[in-house]
Amino acid sequence: MADQEFLDRVLTMEIGRCTEAAAVAASKMIGRGDKNGADDAAVVALREALNKLDIDGTVVIGEGERDEAPMLFIGEKVGTKNGPKIDIALDPLEGTDLTAKGMGNALAVVAMATGGTMLHAPDTYMDKIAIGPGYPEGLVDLDASVEENIRELAKAKRVTPADITLCVLDRDRHKHIIEGARKVGARIILIPDGDVAGVFHTTDPDTGIDLYVGQGGAPEGVLAAAALRCVGGQMQGRLVFRNDDEKARAARAGITDLNRKYSLMDLCGGDVFFAATGVTDGAMLSGVKWEPGYVNTHTVVMRSKTGTVRYIHARTKR
Ligand code: FBP
Repeated sequence: MADQEFLDRVLTMEIGRCTEAAAVAASKMIGRGDKNGADDAAVVALREALNKLDIDGTVVIGEGERDEAPMLFIGEKVGTKNGPKIDIALDPLEGTDLTAKGMGNALAVVAMATGGTMLHAPDTYMDKIAIGPGYPEGLVDLDASVEENIRELAKAKRVTPADITLCVLDRDRHKHIIEGARKVGARIILIPDGDVAGVFHTTDPDTGIDLYVGQGGAPEGVLAAAALRCVGGQMQGRLVFRNDDEKARAARAGITDLNRKYSLMDLCGGDVFFAATGVTDGAMLSGVKWEPGYVNTHTVVMRSKTGTVRYIHARTKR
């Protein structure tokens, strides 16, 4: 086996160890009403785990810009430097509030890709639309109405719009989406937080979710795109700017076309590795469970080049 191939295979498993470490650390803060404390615990653990990897890594999507995040900030170098140059997108705790309140679907998430192939998304919002695998390319569109997208999806799935289930963040800004979906009779799953999981859930028929629509974090958009690149599915996104400061963030990230509609490949185009570990119980991953002397974690690790998806239940001595 060529060195690069061997390295890739090792890395696929190693990034799962990193998200496990972050999830285990965050799990100690489940239900303690302290979202920042939960996030800090995950950040410290993830940084420590990443620094053990034989990679020359750069955080391209992280905890914020250098002056606002002490660790895992955008541009921070991680790894031993004895290895390939890798871009890293991460969210040590996706769903800080979910964790603080002991609610489902909080995740630790990391994606890695070879240099320059992931959108360096600024910390702004992004309009997103996503569906799972198996549909004709271009079936749904960010610029079409939600009614139209639901009708098209229903046609392709050979069901009625009433049989389509849409997932959307429960926010006032999504009133028009909710009203449109109700008009055509679709089911709506309103989630309190966690749209990486929301998008990812469209890829698994067991979740019952067909379509994800709405505005959430742009960094989370790239992480969700990385997951879809591995498992299949379609996604589009467009950055949303609320003020000049957010536009300046985009400029610093090298973005010039502020109105660009990004395809899945624009969001994450290269050979990407993705890992997520459940912190609290979710539709696709169980959360961290402690027992005397051991901790149990559930992780998915995937790679776009091979399309391999591995679910790992780890029982680790503590
Ligand atoms: P955090 O884990 O950083 O709190 O993010 C949770 C989240 O729900 C994301 O999944 C989503 O993209 C974003 O927040 C939505 O932002 P807002 O809460 O401002 O609507």
